Amino acid sequence: MRIDVLTLFPEMFYGPLQASIIGRAQAAGLVDIHLWDIRDFATDRHRQVDDYPFGGGAGMVMKPEPVFAAVRHVLDQEPAPVVLMTPQGEPFTHELAKELAEEKRLLLLCGHYEGIDERIRQGLVTRQISIGDYVLTGGELPAMVVIDAIVRFLPGALGEATAVETDSFAKGLLEYPQYTRPRDFEGMHVPDVLLSGDHQKIAQWRRRQSLRRTLQRRPDLLPKVELSKKEREFLASIQAGPNQSEDDSD
Ligand code: ADE
Repeated sequence: MRIDVLTLFPEMFYGPLQASIIGRAQAAGLVDIHLWDIRDFATDRHRQVDDYPFGGGAGMVMKPEPVFAAVRHVLDQEPAPVVLMTPQGEPFTHELAKELAEEKRLLLLCGHYEGIDERIRQGLVTRQISIGDYVLTGGELPAMVVIDAIVRFLPGALGEATAVETDSFAKGLLEYPQYTRPRDFEGMHVPDVLLSGDHQKIAQWRRRQSLRRTLQRRPDLLPKVELSKKEREFLASIQAGPNQSEDDSD
């Protein structure tokens, strides 16, 4: 997969893209990430990329000419989704990351300053993504978030192919708790079931932990999850109160 990033601050990406899994995925040729400085496409003497908003108001607006020139240069007739990072975009989710990981090519456009000239949206952008209902100083951190989430889905990027399947959200639920050695850390013990070697029991315990966590932390996710009758009863017993007979370990 190839990802082109258009930004006014390419240096913001240097550390995060080189480290850990994304760095390894690039080294292994799974993803090819290109950073482009929009300022390099400014044509005037001062390399101006922003200007005052027509109609007045606070802040500066990104000018259309350098962005159009940059996108045209980078895509060079080859079509690819042009994704604008913006708080006005569709919410970024596990499903969307998975969908974008199927693309052969992607162009991420990072807005900065108070906004971008609307003609960039009209004439170039095919998709708009928000990473949450808050406003950041620019689209660079959101672009890194999107790249990270996409790269995890590329075959071979994670050590174990199954890791993405047990992620939080993969089955619509939050992930179950994980433990490693030691068994006893300052009096806090690893649940017995995980040491039992009984894989069926472990799977059931994990599923129930996922259900419990999702109910407690993200109940909004539950209506979209397919649940068995037993699982619905389990959730109802948690909701009924802590003294009910539900038992995570059975
Ligand atoms: N740019 C500024 N804030 C953003 C957000 N929440 N998501 C995506 N891009 C942004």
